[in-house]
This record gives sequence, structure tokens and C-alpha cells, in this order.
Amino acid sequence: MALFITFEGGEGCGKSTQAKALWRKLIQLGISAELTHEPGGTALGKELRHLLKRKRRDYLSPEAELLLFAASRAQLIDEVIKPGLQKGKVVICDRFADSTVTYQGYGRGIDLATIKAINERATAGIKPHLTILLDMPADKGLSRKQAGHHDRFESEEIGFHQKVRNGYLELAAQEPARWMVVDATLPRNQLKALIWNKVNLLLQESRQL
Ligand code: TMP
Repeated sequence: MALFITFEGGEGCGKSTQAKALWRKLIQLGISAELTHEPGGTALGKELRHLLKRKRRDYLSPEAELLLFAASRAQLIDEVIKPGLQKGKVVICDRFADSTVTYQGYGRGIDLATIKAINERATAGIKPHLTILLDMPADKGLSRKQAGHHDRFESEEIGFHQKVRNGYLELAAQEPARWMVVDATLPRNQLKALIWNKVNLLLQESRQL
């Protein structure tokens, strides 16, 4: 019953809260599940997360940024995601390869074919069965972040975040069977219920296979 579920969205959309809530629900029901996140989720990933998020005095080129995210992902696939799926677990990942398409592709402007090829290599071809997009206007999400504590991405101008949001909506429209788009401005518990209904359905379908 291995299932790979990813959560995606812009800054302040509440995806980490929803990913954790889903993981808790599965554990409560006795379903073997693992929660991880990107960048991070491994010792190497944690170091790369720090390098990528911290505001730098020196310049980090878009290509270097892209490859650091890919390195973190390759390690996470090898250490956590692949073994989890092989054990038949439900693996939940807070951000995955689609974040690279939207942030480094739509946001930074790196061509999408290059990103696709690098993602393919870093993920070893592993794709989510379901991707949940917590969609909300970029300014609304950013305003949820604590003033004065913005990291390198949160500090980007609003236009960057609007491009990221549009990128997500385009990806979801291109592959509607994989994506579930939810209105992230809905109350937390309502979102939780919507997401659980979808995952429960997927679990039932996978049991019948
Ligand atoms: P978060 O985990 O708190 O959302 O922070 C991760 C940040 O890194 C967020 O601003 C999105 C960004 N990011 C990318 O730009 N590309 C990626 O591939 C991933 C996984 C994250």
C-alpha cells in the first residue's frame, strides 16, 4: 500500500501544518506512514537547507541554488523516500520536485527543460501519486510570516511569489489526475477534512489493486 504524497504551495500557505495533520491521522489509524520535508529530512539536507534559506552577504547563482536543491533531494530519495516506499509506507513530503519547477523555473527563470532533466536524475524517476497544492494569493501568504524574520526566499519581491503561484496553478492544470488544488484561505479544520477525504479514497483504491 505504498503511497507517495507531496504538499506544495507558496510562503505561509500552511502546508507544513496540513502535512503533519495528515501524518498524525494515518498513525492514529495504525497506517505505517513517514513524514519528511525538503530541503532537509537528512543530515545533508539540513545543512543545505541552512545554506539555501539564510540571507547571504555573498551572491548565490540561480544554477548553484538549483543544484543544491537537487543534491538535497537526491539524498532524501536515497535515505528516506525510496526505502519508505519499498517498505509499503505512506510517505508524505512537505515540498518536492515541483517546488524546483515553480521557484527556480517560474520564479528565477531557469528553463523548464533543464529543471525537468535535473529533477528526473535527483528523484530517480520517483513521482508522487498525489500532490496537494495549498493555493492562496501570494501577498496573503507572505503577510502570515513574522515581520523582520524573512529568509532569502521570503525576502523576494511580490512579483517573484506571484510567478511561483502561477507556476503551481499551471502545473496543476497540466496534470489534474495527480494534483489536488485546495483554497488555503479556508479554515484549518475544513482543509484537514478535505485532504483526508481525498487520501482516504486513494487508500481504498490502492487496497483494491
Ligand atoms: P519551507 O520549507 O519553510 O517552505 O522553506 C523552503 C524554501 O525553499 C521555500 O522558500 C521554497 C524554497 N524551495 C525552492 O526554492 N526550491 C525547492 O526545490 C524547494 C524544495 C524549496
